[in-house]
Amino acid sequence: MEKVTMMIKARRLFKDTGDLPTLPAIVSKVVAMLDDQEASPDDIADLMLSDQVLAARVIRVVNSPLYRASNSIMSVKRALIFLGFKSVREMILTSYFVDGFKRKEQPFDMKIFWIHSFSVGAISRRIARQVNYPDTEKAYLVGILHDIGKVFLGHYCKDEYGRMLASIKNTSNTTYESEYEHFGTTHCEVGLCLAQRWNFPPVYCDVISYHHSSDMATEDPLLTAMVALADFYCLSHVNSNSVAQASIPGSSEESAWKIFTQLVPDQNASSLEHFLSDLDEEYEAISQEVDVLFNTMTT
Ligand SMILES: [Fe+2]
Ligand SMILES: [Fe+2]
Repeated sequence: MEKVTMMIKARRLFKDTGDLPTLPAIVSKVVAMLDDQEASPDDIADLMLSDQVLAARVIRVVNSPLYRASNSIMSVKRALIFLGFKSVREMILTSYFVDGFKRKEQPFDMKIFWIHSFSVGAISRRIARQVNYPDTEKAYLVGILHDIGKVFLGHYCKDEYGRMLASIKNTSNTTYESEYEHFGTTHCEVGLCLAQRWNFPPVYCDVISYHHSSDMATEDPLLTAMVALADFYCLSHVNSNSVAQASIPGSSEESAWKIFTQLVPDQNASSLEHFLSDLDEEYEAISQEVDVLFNTMTT
């Protein structure tokens, strides 16, 4: 598949849509300020407090199981200090993104979609911890966002996407291959357009764009490979009604596994199957947590 041609097609689809969710102006300002090395926690907290919805959201998420703070955190300034500017920035972007697409009509069950996304986030974080990846929370958030292009295709190309999903139900075709056949592009390229529009950090854009072709990732190939492996694990463990499906490792999983073993040479698993089956021990606990996280991010 030719990435450049797929990107051109994705941009064309993207150009024809007028009502894309946008980030509220106050949120863009806060995100920009969180990027500013000179800004102080007091200045940022003041700006955040000028929007009660934003302030309440940050407090709710920082006290959710995602962060497991030992004492409850009731002030925005403490949340900033506890999480760090970058984490708050990424958490805000993620939660507003989830919110922006929550009520968009889809030809698939959105709850199934988000449960898949949150599960991939949780499994990515679990793998990241196992290999001592330095930013496990980034692995979690980008895992949540990896398939955002599907939400775009499902909403803006609703009838055709619905027909496509129906055509692969109970087959071994993957959503990714089928999107390419129907649209000449996939949720990866469309997701990249969305991520760029929302000014997501470059590493998020890279994972969204290459989680089905980890060998092409340039920003953080290990992170992309971990999300790709977590994705496959979740797809092969849950019957997701064809919005996302795969049961046997294909070239995308094989390239992710190759990169993962090159970058983490001392991990214990002897094969991809072995590695994935090691995740089973924690899967039950993770899927219970996912329900709680889903409610935290979507209410
Ligand atoms: Fe995907
Ligand atoms: Fe996925």
